[in-house]
Amino acid sequence: MSVKVQVLFYSMYGHIYKMAEAVAAGAREVPGTEVSLYQVAELVPDEALEKSGAQAARATFAHIPIATPAQLAEADAIIFGTTTRFGNMCAQMRNFLDQTGQLWAKGALVGKVGSVFTSTATQHGGQETTITSFHSTLLHHGMIIVGVPYSEQRLLNMSEITGGSPYGASTLAAGDGSRQPSENELAIARFQGRHVAEIARRLKSE
Ligand SMILES: Cc1cc2nc3c(=O)[nH]c(=O)nc-3n(C[C@H](O)[C@H](O)[C@H](O)COP(=O)(O)O)c2cc1C
Repeated sequence: MSVKVQVLFYSMYGHIYKMAEAVAAGAREVPGTEVSLYQVAELVPDEALEKSGAQAARATFAHIPIATPAQLAEADAIIFGTTTRFGNMCAQMRNFLDQTGQLWAKGALVGKVGSVFTSTATQHGGQETTITSFHSTLLHHGMIIVGVPYSEQRLLNMSEITGGSPYGASTLAAGDGSRQPSENELAIARFQGRHVAEIARRLKSE
């Protein structure tokens, strides 16, 4: 039995992309899991991306295909990665989700596993609000929400600044984007991918 996990993300400066690769790697550790990585469409004009330096960062993951709403119906589990914007998901992800009305009408995502990871510039910039407010959309779709349980002991790490919560993996980028996902954060992201794939497998085999 093959279990299909889609990792769908938006990243402007590459932090969420790195986390998405780690989440995907974790999901691939579960035998019989087919993992695909997608990004949602950009909405910011090229000129603004160029000015902010995002254009160069985005070139490093330009090979990742753009997601279409219809493809979500094929997944057993969908893991969403979004940057935080004012304590919430980014507009690019919201725009993508707002195109899933037809899927909602058909109940196409009911019973699939949904999970979310994020990044912020600062330690208290809204990681938890971004993830838990994202969950509302998943619940409207009838998805089964999975986070990161404390059996992932790295959530308890107090010896360094680190992202990661029971709601989902996360990283801190710093105001200027200079901080990269730490080994602790990447390991939590791998855990999340693996955990979601294992639960999706169990649900599918019932
Ligand atoms: C319009 C805007 C709003 C943002 N809002 C927040 C915020 O509420 N809290 C925070 O810590 N960082 C905030 N940030 C910083 C981003 O979350 C950060 O650049 C992002 O997580 C980096 O991920 P990426 O490299 O994948 O794009 C904001 C950035 C922008 C451009």
